[in-house]
Amino acid sequence: DTIYLKDYAASPYRIVSADLDFRITEADTRVRALLTIEPREDTAAGTPLVLDGNELTLGSIAIDGAPLVLSAYGADASGLTVFEPPLRRFVLETEVTLKPEGNTRLMGLYRSGGTWCTQCEAEGFRRITYYLDRPDNLALFKVRITAPLNVAPVLLSNGNLIDQGDAGEGMHFAVWEDPFPKPSYLFALVAGDLGSITDSFTTASGRKVALAIYCSHGKEDQCLWAMDSLKRSMAWDERRFGREYDLDIFNIVAVSDFNFGAMENKGLNIFNDKLVFAQPESATDADYDGIERVIAHEYFHNWTGNRITCRDWFQLCLKEGLTVYRDQEFTSDERSRPVKRISDVVGLRSGQFPEDGGPLAHPARPDQYSEINNFYTATVYEKGAEIVRMLATLLGEAGFRKGMDLYFERHDGQATTIEAFLAVFAEANDVDLEQFKTWYLQAGTPRLSVSDSYDGASQTYTLKLGQQTQPTPGQPTKQALVLPIKFGLIGPNGSEMSWTGVSGGTVRDDMIVLDTAEAEIRFTGVPNKPVPSLLRGFSAPVNMDTTLSQADQLFLAQHDSDPFNRWQALQDVGMALAVAAIGGTPWSQQAVTALSQAMAETLASETLDDAFKALALNLPAEAQISRTIGKDIDPDRVHMVRAALLKAVFTPLALQLLQTYRKLSSDAPYAPDAASTGRRALRNRLLGLLVSSDAAGAADLAAQQYAGARNMTDRLAALSVSALAWTPDAEALLAHFHTNFAATNPLVLDKWLAVTASVPQDMVIDRMRAVLADPNFPKTNPNRLRSLVGVFSMANPTQFARADGAGFRFVAETVVEIDSINPQVAARLLTGFRVWPMLEEERRAAAKTALLWLETSGSLSRNTADILTRMLAS
Ligand code: ARG
Ligand code: ZN
Repeated sequence: DTIYLKDYAASPYRIVSADLDFRITEADTRVRALLTIEPREDTAAGTPLVLDGNELTLGSIAIDGAPLVLSAYGADASGLTVFEPPLRRFVLETEVTLKPEGNTRLMGLYRSGGTWCTQCEAEGFRRITYYLDRPDNLALFKVRITAPLNVAPVLLSNGNLIDQGDAGEGMHFAVWEDPFPKPSYLFALVAGDLGSITDSFTTASGRKVALAIYCSHGKEDQCLWAMDSLKRSMAWDERRFGREYDLDIFNIVAVSDFNFGAMENKGLNIFNDKLVFAQPESATDADYDGIERVIAHEYFHNWTGNRITCRDWFQLCLKEGLTVYRDQEFTSDERSRPVKRISDVVGLRSGQFPEDGGPLAHPARPDQYSEINNFYTATVYEKGAEIVRMLATLLGEAGFRKGMDLYFERHDGQATTIEAFLAVFAEANDVDLEQFKTWYLQAGTPRLSVSDSYDGASQTYTLKLGQQTQPTPGQPTKQALVLPIKFGLIGPNGSEMSWTGVSGGTVRDDMIVLDTAEAEIRFTGVPNKPVPSLLRGFSAPVNMDTTLSQADQLFLAQHDSDPFNRWQALQDVGMALAVAAIGGTPWSQQAVTALSQAMAETLASETLDDAFKALALNLPAEAQISRTIGKDIDPDRVHMVRAALLKAVFTPLALQLLQTYRKLSSDAPYAPDAASTGRRALRNRLLGLLVSSDAAGAADLAAQQYAGARNMTDRLAALSVSALAWTPDAEALLAHFHTNFAATNPLVLDKWLAVTASVPQDMVIDRMRAVLADPNFPKTNPNRLRSLVGVFSMANPTQFARADGAGFRFVAETVVEIDSINPQVAARLLTGFRVWPMLEEERRAAAKTALLWLETSGSLSRNTADILTRMLAS
């Protein structure tokens, strides 16, 4: 049951409007749908109407008011077929009864903490009523909700509230109408007893929009940061893209049980509450950051996703890649652009590159799938955003904006494709994007190789560039991509050098455009041998092999005008030392001293900001080092070598680290602005370095910070630094945190679970088993499971990939158990196995054993079976 992009065909019928009537009671929910349906112009008489359904039972069915005879239709849990519908506009009326209480898959209509809510993307609407549940069917929705007043005083759906009142017998009703035609995946309904905060925003053209955020009672004051983020997002989209909000109401609802981050339902965004609630005592800077980012992301979808949607799910990155790009730009404009870029690249390398280089690799626009929910991936989202960013880099800001304007002008109200998206940029800028399109079609991370030479006599500097992409599942051969390589040549005094002539490649100002497998670019009129700074701002999502010496790297770290490459250079030096040592070539004292000094200078700099320093004073993560080595990985060895290198580099700086740590302490009340966040990030980074380099008294310092912390950012940082290093206090701190903070707040419990799962000690698996065995542990809550099991498989490489296979077994067993509750969550947990092909033999065999066991463990959901099949095919 694989679905192929090449088989896309318009449906013979379209639903033009949907009149839905929900009658909600504690026992069940009855849904009556009146669908106005038209045959397409070329539909032949007698063509059956086939509607999607999932776990539905049909109660009654009629066309234009006349009940259908049994022989006129076929209905089962997975669909409804009307054999010979009229060849004209007609109204199909159906009735189904749902049991939201038992819906643990959290798709369709379900209950979270007593509140009825929905999640429809991608294919959840078919769990609510029989429908053409595909994104290219745009219909006008009118929704009537009737529910008990005492349990559900708040009744919400998309669009505008047009009626409400008493419905007798303790029931009340509300009627919502959405003036914008939309696909079913953007439908939403909420009914519950909720508190709220309200505000308003006046758009550039003067429309006054009523804003509200709904949450469980008592959490209202934790929604203020989300509201602030929303208003800033609305203003930014007007400024930067000329996009105004288009309804009189914008509602957000926070729920505790949610399969992913949030959902952009038209006028009624529904959020995982961890991405709404913030207060200094329980949320960290990272949480504030995530809230701002996701509130913006979902809001931006109103134009890129809702007003213009996807023709089919293969085009998912049309809305997701573009919207991630937009939220990245928002954060860059609101905060520090370089810091945002570095963090995003760290995320890309740890989340997307392993996907692109492993068994689950797929193009940003896949051409086949068996379960679409498994394609809400880092590749579709983050690589999708990188592709849009490259487009902006190639076209320049003005050219990109011209294309976006044309996109909105031409495709507003449509369900469209990547081809249509690229066409507007090509047309608006009069360029050919045919080869560029390959970025959407080809999986895998390209490798960019570089070598250079300088000829003093002719003052010629030559750069040799090459690109190569390894085969990925289903794509044995690869084509050359268009790589925008931002660059500069740096002279001996540290400033940019210019050249008088270029030949052999495409160079436009500060950008090389490499669109062939190889190029040899000659710069003439270059008076001295330069140090090249390549891929500035990480202008293309590639792995770059550099041949620069350590001295040249450190020179860049000090002098490059591009902050990204200053950061990158330090990382590269650390990476080279770690990789060599793991391969058996220990570092020289001299090399380590040079890196230490560069770190010391970075820390002492008066021009770099704290957030940047926090990112720079680090070595590449273990997973990053493993990926660079690429095969026969022994995670214990990687862990050991990295720890030793950290010590070697940072022990000599202990005094400076400690002094700076003390200087950064502050009594100011918590504020989530960029400067305060940066200060805390640096201070906590220094604490981490002091502890991991075993500086005298460092473990005590962490315990003191934990005890004296006045916000969750500092407390959690102290806790996790202690736990990861397993200091003598770690055990007591974990217990204290659990009792005093986690036990009463589920979102804080998630932090405890995540730290517990990250401890690189042998007892971790037994502890996690004990946590899961507690009858009070809510296995139906995705956040809890991801915090424990998801974090374990992604962030605890030594224990997950234990040679005895205990880590693999633990995850595999949990996947089986969760699969019967919530297949989407189970499938996601299984993706942690994607590292398995690059492990050393014994661990590889242990991983395979666990995967094969999973295969024989009974009936897996389509979600989990799909991941497993692809995982084993490599
Ligand atoms: N569209 C939502 C967002 O990007 C995410 C929906 C995820 N859906 C899924 N089936 N995984 O904000
Ligand atoms: Zn999105």
